[in-house]
Amino acid sequence: MLEKLGDIYIMSTDILHEQKNRSLLQIAIFASGAGSNAKKIIEYFRGSKEASINLIVCNRQGAGVIQIAADSQIPVLIIEKERFFNGDSYLQELQHSSINFIVLAGFLWKIPETLIQNFRNKIINIHPALLPKYGGKGMYGSKVHDAIIAAGETESGITIHYVDEHYDNGDIIFQAKCNIEPNDTAETLAEKIHQLEHENFARVIEECVSKI
Ligand code: GRF
Repeated sequence: MLEKLGDIYIMSTDILHEQKNRSLLQIAIFASGAGSNAKKIIEYFRGSKEASINLIVCNRQGAGVIQIAADSQIPVLIIEKERFFNGDSYLQELQHSSINFIVLAGFLWKIPETLIQNFRNKIINIHPALLPKYGGKGMYGSKVHDAIIAAGETESGITIHYVDEHYDNGDIIFQAKCNIEPNDTAETLAEKIHQLEHENFARVIEECVSKI
């Protein structure tokens, strides 16, 4: 309803609220692993007025994230290499689900140009190190933590960044650090990193989508 206040008309807050609901941002999470980050993100956005998690995209049958999606009744799209890299990159399904933001949470394939172009500045990734160090092709999962421990680093952390055509290269949105003690191993470092990811990723996603 429009209410007249002097010479100006304002929308009633009910209508504004409805409009906000209608423009709820639809997020797809791309993940191929255990899905602990996906789980945290799903929990965080449950009931949110800003955004909802509408789709999980996974390239590995049997990945833990599939069960997490099923438990939350979120549809899963299992993708295959050929169509992802040499076809339409599943753009049709993403558009059909009205996806307007993509979160990479442990997704190991490079994002093809078709998706980069259609989701410019609307794809973000989490990397388990302080980029630009320990990033790039082949730097994923335990390989990152192994390299950091082998180099004798005294700190590591997480980086959340926009995704562009190159590996681990887009603008950095957020970083958080943790100390590495002399007795830390790649496994204990991975635990510290997961903790930082779980504490920060969903909140940073919310900040990103609120700017769209
Ligand atoms: C995270 O450490 C993330 O930084 C990396 O892959 C891992 C995924 O873990 N890109 P999970 O599947 O969310 O537990």
